[in-house]
Amino acid sequence: MNPGLRRPLVTGNWKLHKTIAESRALAQDVIARVAAYDDVEVALAPVFTALTTLRDVLGSKAQLAAQDVYWESHGAFTGEVSAVLLRDAGCSYVIVGHSERRQLFGETDVNVNRKTVAVLASGMAPIVCVGESLAQREAGATEAHVLGQIDAALQGLGAAQAGSVVVAYEPIWAIGTGKNASPQDAQQVHAAIRGRVAQQFGSALAERLRILYGGSVKPDNARALMAQPDIDGALVGGASLDAASFATIAAAASHRNPLVQS
Ligand code: PGA
Repeated sequence: MNPGLRRPLVTGNWKLHKTIAESRALAQDVIARVAAYDDVEVALAPVFTALTTLRDVLGSKAQLAAQDVYWESHGAFTGEVSAVLLRDAGCSYVIVGHSERRQLFGETDVNVNRKTVAVLASGMAPIVCVGESLAQREAGATEAHVLGQIDAALQGLGAAQAGSVVVAYEPIWAIGTGKNASPQDAQQVHAAIRGRVAQQFGSALAERLRILYGGSVKPDNARALMAQPDIDGALVGGASLDAASFATIAAAASHRNPLVQS
């Protein structure tokens, strides 16, 4: 992490968990525990039905994030929620292209790009998820695959838009499995992503780009991951459902963590 250029972002992806009442209680617990790490930006992504409740709980203490979005602003699209409406509900971030969306719900690179564009057009920041499967990693195709996903997601963006993007590198084989990428392996992919963004949008923008790591981030591995120079925070699934664990991960991303100082 480079604290001078990039404020760490630690995002809790609550996936399909928690009622409204449970979400409120968890969010209250989280913001009390992360208050000491005010150099870290914290965002929470509850289910859609808990968004406005969390907006009121979080206030300015943490950011509100949505887990998905539809790219059209309104119309006959039963069941969808647009970026405009997520902004209206208080979101500042939207997770786009999570591997569960890609694998379970048929999300394509083209649609990830449409969603990225829609989120940016509504004044929010997309957290664009990329990552390889185990087969791709074993075949030595990790970087080609991940950089292809980056190219597709950012296609057609101008520099002003690209400057608001957050990337989350999440190896699919590490999500929810308890197997995280080694800090060195993750760093290598993060550096490759930053290099690709530098080619496309210039090195000044790439140096400001926040690249989060996701995939079984836990209290016991967070410090070593966050100490890597190109890892700027975390996208946390399972461990974000426990306030103490999540707060420990936020602490690991804090510049107050001596390992992270550079
Ligand atoms: P995990 O999920 O931390 O439970 O592996 C990460 C994610 O899916 O974003």
